Amino acid sequence: MAEKKIVTEKPKAAKLPVKRPKAGKLPEIKVTEKKKIVFFGSEAAPFIATGGLADVMGSLPKALARNKHNEVSVILPLYSNISLEFKSQFRFIKNFNVSLGWRWQYAGVFVYEYEGVKFYFIDNEYYFRREGNIYGFYDDGERFAFFSRAALDALSRLNIYPDVLHCNDWQTAASIIYLKGMYYNDEQYRRIKTVFTIHNIEYQGVFGMDTYESLFGFPESIKQYIEFSGNVNLMKAAIEMSDVVNTVSPTYAEEIKNPYYAHGLESIINRNAHKLYGILNGIDIDYYNPATDKYIFKNYSLMDLSGKAVCKSELQKLLGLPVRADVPVIAIISRLVQHKGLDLVKAIIENLLSSDVQVIILGKGEIAYESFFTNIARAYSGKCAAIIAYNQDLSRKIYSGADIFLMPSKTEPCGLSQMIASRYGTVPVVRETGGLNDSIKAYTGDSGNGFTFKNYNAHDMLYVINEAVRTYREPIKWKDVQKRAMSTDFSWKISAERYEKLYER
Ligand code: GLC
Repeated sequence: MAEKKIVTEKPKAAKLPVKRPKAGKLPEIKVTEKKKIVFFGSEAAPFIATGGLADVMGSLPKALARNKHNEVSVILPLYSNISLEFKSQFRFIKNFNVSLGWRWQYAGVFVYEYEGVKFYFIDNEYYFRREGNIYGFYDDGERFAFFSRAALDALSRLNIYPDVLHCNDWQTAASIIYLKGMYYNDEQYRRIKTVFTIHNIEYQGVFGMDTYESLFGFPESIKQYIEFSGNVNLMKAAIEMSDVVNTVSPTYAEEIKNPYYAHGLESIINRNAHKLYGILNGIDIDYYNPATDKYIFKNYSLMDLSGKAVCKSELQKLLGLPVRADVPVIAIISRLVQHKGLDLVKAIIENLLSSDVQVIILGKGEIAYESFFTNIARAYSGKCAAIIAYNQDLSRKIYSGADIFLMPSKTEPCGLSQMIASRYGTVPVVRETGGLNDSIKAYTGDSGNGFTFKNYNAHDMLYVINEAVRTYREPIKWKDVQKRAMSTDFSWKISAERYEKLYER
């Protein structure tokens, strides 16, 4: 959206002739209105995080807020899992009731200003006071429909009507449906433009048609947008109804036109291709900085990598691996789910472990992968360590202490870990898909910042891992590729500018 400038030509005393304001008309005053951007999302670092979405929701708004012409807010659910350290600082502003199907539900609003961004939290203990995880409950549809509606209603209650409402993934897709399908009679809501970001097309928010009216309270008139294959499909509806749709890398934006990647939505994507964009995510380079990171054993930088050797030996000690500087440490930090390409790893891990390498796996997810890697680590103790957890502290110690970072995803909308690993001088081995393809280029000796393979094939992957291992054994070459990885610009600067351009539309 164009920044609103009321252009003036002020009468200046000396230089004549000037356009003088006509009698009765006051001279206009130059005001540069701020552009208001509000994000809706289901998680944001550092408050609550289970995956890459949280990193983006934490760092993109902050990057946009650096431009003083932007006023940026984020609305999140007030989960009971948010740490008290933060919660105790949240300030209650107001409460109101939200209509959801036949129900009226309480919504409280809290606020907390953090790094130039206003974070609002929607409180409802019935929906957001849950044990353990933040997703995976039988009533997730209702929980996020409530959140989507409450967040939308909060805009008028707080008087923060934005120029752009930026919704993320299926959990906030319903906000776009309510806004475009039910709030258009309200002038203030009608002028809000929407951006919908697909962080992963695999998770669409699909519910039985019986939820249409009774749970979501959607009107009959917009059924064509919402219904898909006989179900309510929230992501599909948001793609159809949003002003602009984007996904988190240019390659993924192309890939999802194709059935292999689109999880059934290829026809919808193709039909809306005129308003589909791909913008590569960045990472918060202050947060992920080996020179200042408090989690790692010793700080280091591109100029002086000596601390990285300490990080490696301390990591080996911590995980019970032989402390050896000469053995390449290959790390995987990932949700243990299918699309991360773990079947390829499963197929070759014993072969890989038969050579002189150490392998570290950190992550949790599907039980089958968890037990597979636990068993491998047991069978190859002293060569392989598997830690079944989502652990920020340990992940930093691995990013900094490993040599090679393996990310062979089958599909990867963007992927942030390959960028984080690069920042810590841990050279990525990736499959050429989605954001991996846009961020990591094969090392040739005088260009490239990692190692890549194209086909989803375990032996192609093993070949490239071995190529990385061979390069590791040539210290001059290795330093070179490591420095290329570390000096690649993965900051939000360029991508935030791309988002601003998108908003200008
Ligand atoms: C999802 C995607 C991942 C992406 C992240 C942030 O988690 O699977 O590829 O990096 O969202 O956009």
